[in-house]
Amino acid sequence: MSTKIVVLAAGKGTRMKSAKPKVLHCLAGTQLLQHVLNNVAGLNPETVFTVIGHGAEQVVSEIGDAVTFVTQEQQLGTGHAVQQVVPNIDDADRIVIAYGDVPLTRPETFASLLACVDSNSIGLLTVHLQDPTGYGRIVRDEQGQVRCIVEEKDANDAQKAITEVNTGMLAAEGKVLKALLADLDNNNAQGEYYLTDIFAKAVTQGIAVKTVNPSAEWEVAGVNSRIQLAELERVAQANIAQSLMANGVTLADPARIDVRGTLETGSDVFIDVNCVFEGEVSLADDVVIGPNCVLKNATLGEGVVLQANTVIEDATVGAGAKVGPFARLRPGTALSEQTHVGNFVEIKNATVGTGSKVNHLSYVGDTDIGAETNIGAGTITCNYDGANKHRTVMGDKVFIGSNSSLVAPVQIGDGATVGAGSVITRDVEAEQLAITRAKQKVITGWQRPRKPAK
Ligand code: UD1
Ligand code: CA
Repeated sequence: MSTKIVVLAAGKGTRMKSAKPKVLHCLAGTQLLQHVLNNVAGLNPETVFTVIGHGAEQVVSEIGDAVTFVTQEQQLGTGHAVQQVVPNIDDADRIVIAYGDVPLTRPETFASLLACVDSNSIGLLTVHLQDPTGYGRIVRDEQGQVRCIVEEKDANDAQKAITEVNTGMLAAEGKVLKALLADLDNNNAQGEYYLTDIFAKAVTQGIAVKTVNPSAEWEVAGVNSRIQLAELERVAQANIAQSLMANGVTLADPARIDVRGTLETGSDVFIDVNCVFEGEVSLADDVVIGPNCVLKNATLGEGVVLQANTVIEDATVGAGAKVGPFARLRPGTALSEQTHVGNFVEIKNATVGTGSKVNHLSYVGDTDIGAETNIGAGTITCNYDGANKHRTVMGDKVFIGSNSSLVAPVQIGDGATVGAGSVITRDVEAEQLAITRAKQKVITGWQRPRKPAK
């Protein structure tokens, strides 16, 4: 008895007004379809079939091998879509049907749906809506048993008044589902093969329809337009904020954080307002993130303090480091423990050793800096000759005076000093002082030019 999932994703998504298939639009940094795949993963399915049609090539190339794609050449309805998967369904399978554009269904809800299934019953996820317009209505008999589902366009006024609607998600045994799908017709207002027609048939065959409800409407909310996408994005972000706080993170304002990927956090982390986290970000215990920081694929060690407006991408920051305000760590940056990187400093593809400081207005690129080295204000590593990139290598306890240019490739030995304003083009040995600044001239009694008298 294995579980198989069928995700319906062949529809066009016209209302998105997009060249991109709807299910590839992102919510919280992840494609809608990928959300659905993540949500059903907890059921440990043997196979996940995804029915695709519009933009099939794009969907396959972005979503990859985790699923088995089944093409529905013409979108003749939800029932027709599921029929495309029938050859892959065994009698003993338990099938769960989900929609590729409904991204926030909790794994627990799928599990409760699956728990309804046996050889005599189908599970159906329904929800009560204040405004049921547009949805298939759940018609029940006097005993409260589900009798059928009627689509909005086929419903009479009494049926339209029903507020319990079909979410589209259901679960059934393979044998039962295949039998019910075998002779669907399209004699309805839309001329489509409705998946929903299986319920009336099930009832006549003595198969019970067991319904379950989601914990909240957003679990079953679909994305049909960019407006709905934006609304669900807020829901997704609120959920993420809740779970961060539940895990011991203090958020200055849970409504002003955006996580577009995964954010791992230790204990007693503080995050100020308007921070964006993309890709995979990990914050160790006691990290403090100032306002307006953007972190993408970053790992921050214990007690790191990021001050306001720091931007970090593909970089690691060692424990106890202080970065910002207005600092930029670009890909390939690794700051060791207790380092300081201050305002208007850009670091790229560089390692900075323990306790070293780059505090003001510097560019450090393609560079290795040892421990306890001080890089003065305005220091530039000249890493690019117009064609190639070259490395700058500095030892421990180096002191680079302010406003120096280090023309790579160049090496500065341990304990060496570079005088302020120098342009260093040759290696400096350990403990040497290198200084290239022009000697100061003094002209006594110098008269500055004056404006002519009127
Ligand atoms: C469907 C249900 C309706 C339910 C509603 C919930 C049917 C007949 N109706 O209506 O009861 O209240 O969903 O949102 O099932 N799809 C395909 N191939 C097709 C047609 C659709 O893959 O040929 C996919 C779409 O991409 C979409 C999903 O199935 O992900 C639902 O299709 P849609 O046309 O939005 O269904 P509704 O008419 O809204
Ligand atoms: Ca439709």
